[in-house]
Amino acid sequence: MTTETPVRRLYVKTYGCQMNVYDSERMADVLRPLGYAITDTPDEADLVVLNTCHIREKATEKVYSELGQLKRMKQARADAGGAMTIAVAGCVAQAEGEEILRRQPAVDLVVGPQAYHQLPELIARSHRSRGERLAADFAAEAKFDALPAERASTGVTAFLTVQEGCDKFCTFCVVPYTRGAEWSRPAAAVEAEARVLAAQGVREVTLLGQNVNAYSAPDAEGLGLAGLVRRLAKIEGLDRIRYTTSHPADMDDALIAAHGEVEALMPYLHLPVQAGSDKVLKAMNRAHTAESYVRLIERIRAARPDIAISGDFIVGFPGERDSDFEATLSLVRDVGYASAFSFKYSRRPGTPAAAMMGQVAPAVADARLQALQTLLVEQQKAFNAAQVGRVLPVLFEKPGRHPGQLIGRSPYLQSVHLEAPAALMGQIAPVRIASAGQNSLAGELALESA
Ligand code: SAH
Ligand code: SF4
Ligand code: F3S
Repeated sequence: MTTETPVRRLYVKTYGCQMNVYDSERMADVLRPLGYAITDTPDEADLVVLNTCHIREKATEKVYSELGQLKRMKQARADAGGAMTIAVAGCVAQAEGEEILRRQPAVDLVVGPQAYHQLPELIARSHRSRGERLAADFAAEAKFDALPAERASTGVTAFLTVQEGCDKFCTFCVVPYTRGAEWSRPAAAVEAEARVLAAQGVREVTLLGQNVNAYSAPDAEGLGLAGLVRRLAKIEGLDRIRYTTSHPADMDDALIAAHGEVEALMPYLHLPVQAGSDKVLKAMNRAHTAESYVRLIERIRAARPDIAISGDFIVGFPGERDSDFEATLSLVRDVGYASAFSFKYSRRPGTPAAAMMGQVAPAVADARLQALQTLLVEQQKAFNAAQVGRVLPVLFEKPGRHPGQLIGRSPYLQSVHLEAPAALMGQIAPVRIASAGQNSLAGELALESA
């Protein structure tokens, strides 16, 4: 080739969940053919994309403060004779599209989570400085059909979106409004993407969906998430499969059985419960009780005894009394979590819970969050400490902080730090765990005992 596409610099900042991480990578894939290459800083970028999250008020507010800073950068670039295009993508874009354009005129375009395949067209139009600045379609199918098959080299682990949207309508949550109705990608398309990843050297794939275990293949009747996992487990080189996030109501027998039978399916399950009081769970519209959740965990552990359970919790939901919160602590003690995320309830405009009586005072919610996190951290440390002395298969992912060190991942999603030759990158090798902290393990290669 004699002609070269001029390099344009693209800066993408990602907020929120793993689905946004996946979408950010795919936006870069969509823009690469136009000559956009990733840069790590916004100040030199020709195009800045903020891929936003709407889940809690703080997440949304961060976007507007970031936009304030970008506006100044854009001005400085213009003063120097250059140009910067600012795009807002993701869940805030979907929820507050028009408002973003009104609140921050420096924003050139707004693109929702199901419309980012239109970015090239939107950018072109905005460069002609008129026309559509807002794309907020809800058709996930059109997006996936329009995405390029190629993915930038992602390293040893990768995310792969298989399901989008949510029909559960928990009363606190914006996701059903920002991501639309539940929709599953065809199994053939998922498999094709997984093969591309495996060929690029990916050894571990995490299947993503807002309700990933509600997956139901539109192109293979009766193929649910368990069937999809079994199909992907056959791909050469793809040694580890994970999935997130799941809803307890969609945890079916086939998926539980797969945890006991499919070697590639890692013994780690993120299964949010949110609260331990049935009164609160009902007000949250969670479609499960504390008891049914605990029984479900028992069944999963019967299939895969060593499985690490992780969860999400909300404290200070409207109407939550001390006794309700005690029930959450009690459920946590019953289950025993390997890791968890816990949040103070955030009132989201337009959701049913925002209008409920009995909003909890911030100081009360703060105290509850602290008590819950203390317990969860204790459990996490205990889970990590229980690995000391064991030999675990570790997938080596990246260099450690010091020369000669590598960082890998245990089957239970713990980071493992150790001295190991760089040639092991991308390999799975046995590691004897010597010590454990709150967030990671350390050990040494145990190759002779492999
Ligand atoms: N689909 C997933 C995750 C949704 S968002 C699920 O059903 O579990 C991730 C987490 O954010 C939720 O599990 C919940 O714990 C938390 N969350 C959602 N809305 C919230 C709100 N309004 N306030 C505080 N936390 C919230
Ligand atoms: Fe939100 Fe509930 Fe759907 Fe999860 S299941 S995305 S918490 S509405
Ligand atoms: Fe946030 Fe949207 Fe994910 S609201 S948590 S980025 S689905």
